[in-house]
Amino acid sequence: MNDKSLILKRPDLRRYLVPINTAATQQLFTDCLIIGGGVAGLRAAIEAAAGGCEIVLVCKKTLEDSNTWNAQGGIASVLGSDDSFASHIEDTLATGCGLCNHDTVERVVKDGPGLVKELLDWGAEFDKTKDGSISITFEGGHSHARIAHALGDNTGKAIAQALLNKVRKFDNITLVENYYTIDLITNDDGACLGVIGQTHKGTLEIIWAKTTILATGGAGRLYRETTNPEVATADGLAIAVRAGAVLRDMEFMQFHPTTLYIAGASRALITETLRGEGAILRDINHYAFMAEYDKDAELAPRDVVSRAILTQMLKTDATHVFLDIRHLDKNYFARRFPLISELVTSFDIDVSKDLIPVRPSAHYMVGGVRTDGLTKTNIANLLACGEVASTGLHGANRLGSNSLLEGLVFGRIAGRAAVQQCGRTNGAAGLRKFRYDVPQSDRSRLDTADVLNSLRSLMWRNVGITRSAKPLAEAQEIISFWQRYVLDKVFDSPQGWECQNMLTVCLMMAKAAEARTESRGTHFRSDFPQIDDTKFKTHIEFA
Ligand code: SIN
Repeated sequence: MNDKSLILKRPDLRRYLVPINTAATQQLFTDCLIIGGGVAGLRAAIEAAAGGCEIVLVCKKTLEDSNTWNAQGGIASVLGSDDSFASHIEDTLATGCGLCNHDTVERVVKDGPGLVKELLDWGAEFDKTKDGSISITFEGGHSHARIAHALGDNTGKAIAQALLNKVRKFDNITLVENYYTIDLITNDDGACLGVIGQTHKGTLEIIWAKTTILATGGAGRLYRETTNPEVATADGLAIAVRAGAVLRDMEFMQFHPTTLYIAGASRALITETLRGEGAILRDINHYAFMAEYDKDAELAPRDVVSRAILTQMLKTDATHVFLDIRHLDKNYFARRFPLISELVTSFDIDVSKDLIPVRPSAHYMVGGVRTDGLTKTNIANLLACGEVASTGLHGANRLGSNSLLEGLVFGRIAGRAAVQQCGRTNGAAGLRKFRYDVPQSDRSRLDTADVLNSLRSLMWRNVGITRSAKPLAEAQEIISFWQRYVLDKVFDSPQGWECQNMLTVCLMMAKAAEARTESRGTHFRSDFPQIDDTKFKTHIEFA
């Protein structure tokens, strides 16, 4: 890979979304502030607490509202006797299409089995085989069975619950739900000193911290069609960029091939492990098309399967394709995939006779806040881990089920880094008096819900699975126009701040997608369908 990234100009943004006056704002002090209650945030909290730090962990809604909690398929790790670290590394690098950081990949893969074992010890109910070993299955891009799952297709919940049980054993961790983080606070040297946020009571609060760990998760809600929960609105990316963080790989949004597509149903994920267990994709004429597109058919990497589905939908003039699992024993299906079984049954789909209508949707933000191997960002005292971070593990595309593992590995590293920082006297000390003024604005005629609906549709149409120059330019023009009358406003509730954050991040994504005039990983340009290693075997950064 070319070490020199391609640099785009970072957006010119108002530094804080709200006026700040420390003298009139309630304040809290801690060693380590963790923003986000998914796998990375929880694992970081455990490590930092074990090292003696005082932790405050805030999350936007409840601890159940995260991509982690909703994860179905599982966690990838070398657990099978015929598998090897070399093979997991090779599969991750191949899926990442030349943009992975080799050291990061090696670190994550090698730490995997130990971290899965640790979860078992902490009570995660991984499904087991008859001989008592952890049951593993396939997903696209994996050359060996290595996806461990728990409670059938409820893996994320099982992992989050085990971590939460562990977290609750520490009396130096305070969990705060329904806390909306508005902005990171930085000093004149650009170092992070904590955050300003809104509590569940609607009051502004500053939390000063020696170390802040950003673990805010994903951005799927930037798209009309997504597997992600409501909280995944890219806030972490926006607050990081306002504070001066370098964001990279923003053009790489991963689309999951199979999301339930029924009018009235939420766009629920239909786990890839179903295809790992033999499910077939059929078009509306019931033709099994995947072999036409890739030698690995249903188990090709996600970008390949998503594009194949889209192409087949166009060919057949249909809004969806089908997933066929009629070969699976009905009772086995209900046991192995209880979430999906309940979901499809509620729509009168009998999987032993009927096909499941599916189509792709936005699933995972591959890019994010640039971090080094120790989770450090370019901002002093600010660490990042989990989906919000760009660690170099995924490159241009994420291998399925590598992200829970990444969250554990880098959550633990971030927790350790926080312990080191705790012992120092710098950090939040020194900026207790601070004022930032923004002129009041008139937002009485602004319907942010309408802006967001239009934005999400625009992203789906113009910055979606297949991109090209004209729609990307049009998206930027429209988003910039919306930004002109939304970003200058001062809101006092999450809906307005989310709208500002989403507009900020969407424009960066469209710009990065325009700049990468090639196709690589999740980023497919119909006007530049080939990979171009001469120019683009490198990251795009906003710096
Ligand atoms: C799935 O279950 O298909 C999603 C797993 C992942 O995104 O890693």
